[in-house]
Amino acid sequence: MPFTGRTNIAVISSFHTMQSDLPSFISSLMPSIQTVLIDLADRSYPIEIGAALLGSADIYVGLPAAAAALIVTNTTVAPLYADALRAALAPKYAQVHLVALPDGEEHKNWQTLNLIFDALLQHGCDRKTVLFALGGGVIGDMTGFAAASYMRGVPFVQVPTTLLAQVDSSVGGKTAINHPLGKNMIGAFYQPQLVVCDLATLDTLPARELSAGLAEVIKYGPIADMDFMGWLEDHMDDLLARDRAALAHAVRRSCEIKAWVVGQDEREAGLRAILNFGHTFGHAIEAGMGYGAWLHGEGVGAGMVMAAELSRRLGLVDEAFVARLKVLVQRAGLPLRGAVLDAADNAGRYLELMRVDKKAEAGEIRFVLIDGPGRACVRAAPDALVREVIDACCAG
Ligand SMILES: NC(=O)c1ccc[n+]([C@@H]2O[C@H](COP(=O)([O-])OP(=O)(O)OC[C@H]3O[C@@H](n4cnc5c(N)ncnc54)[C@H](O)[C@@H]3O)[C@@H](O)[C@H]2O)c1
Ligand SMILES: [Zn+2]
Repeated sequence: MPFTGRTNIAVISSFHTMQSDLPSFISSLMPSIQTVLIDLADRSYPIEIGAALLGSADIYVGLPAAAAALIVTNTTVAPLYADALRAALAPKYAQVHLVALPDGEEHKNWQTLNLIFDALLQHGCDRKTVLFALGGGVIGDMTGFAAASYMRGVPFVQVPTTLLAQVDSSVGGKTAINHPLGKNMIGAFYQPQLVVCDLATLDTLPARELSAGLAEVIKYGPIADMDFMGWLEDHMDDLLARDRAALAHAVRRSCEIKAWVVGQDEREAGLRAILNFGHTFGHAIEAGMGYGAWLHGEGVGAGMVMAAELSRRLGLVDEAFVARLKVLVQRAGLPLRGAVLDAADNAGRYLELMRVDKKAEAGEIRFVLIDGPGRACVRAAPDALVREVIDACCAG
């Protein structure tokens, strides 16, 4: 059944986090670590959030024992962080192998996935081998899928190094590669054993990628937590300056909200679709412009404005709410207006692309809308109204 109800802000707001109870003399020396639990019965796991975590051997102590570990990363991230991770894993695993894949969304495919299987087989890795995904969402999604299928499933750990991956893609167990005919079309639900969000890795992230990650942070406010939206309004400058405390709060609150949603609906039977706020319009922009022209988060930025405007035209939110969201999106360094995908019939092109969205049912587009600030719903809207929104919201 599609989700047609409303999110319950009271429940989400009361979701608990655990502060790690390090002895005070250690916590005075070490950066504080915060833990968010993903509660999925026997597939539950912690998300550890803090600075300079990935090089700390203690973080990995509780992982399953194995003879070997394989670090899967890419040619951009490997020179930055692979040595630190390798050193931290050495006390636990007798052999720590590494495969560095080519960098880019265009490599999220079968051919590159096979490089992971090649490495596993060439090193004689058995079914206990633990995979470590060190990188952004592309590496996380591919490594997760490799872990789901190598010898019918081996354990894996997410070590996300982009803001987008720390607040979204590393959490929740969606893994996939792209097919030439569609993004993320081949994949599996497969949960990691552990997620290690090392905030220090964000220091080397290009500014454009930081902004793209902020789109996924911003989305959690309108759909679930207006207090968080207010906090983002107060702290956007700190986030752009990569202030550690601000990043820690943004990552933790985003993970808490995602944890709550995934805990209710692991396999997206309904509620989980609200995490796609801004994504129906955003995916159309990404696909219509050709993948890579707009970053995913940039499409989501403009897409959230379009979805909010559609919500307003349906009488669900007022103009002031849309204006607030626009200011936040703009301050994050994200585009406010959608791209023109077709000079002759722009709205028609958007509609055509949105009908192949994974949420569409029998050709009917299902939009994630804001049903009053802090609440989301998923529903259809009349084409004529959607056309008006596209005409009003696209650069031209
Ligand atoms: N599984 C999910 O639930 C989910 C959710 C959202 C997005 N995704 C997927 O995530 C992918 C996008 O992820 P992304 O935005 O992280 O992109 P990405 O993985 O392509 O990383 C962006 C760029 O930053 C580089 N990079 C990564 N960490 C760095 C660091 N610390 N310093 C310097 N450079 C660094 C990467 O090499 C890459 O060039 C898409 O494929 C999308 O489909 C999945
Ligand atoms: Zn997204």
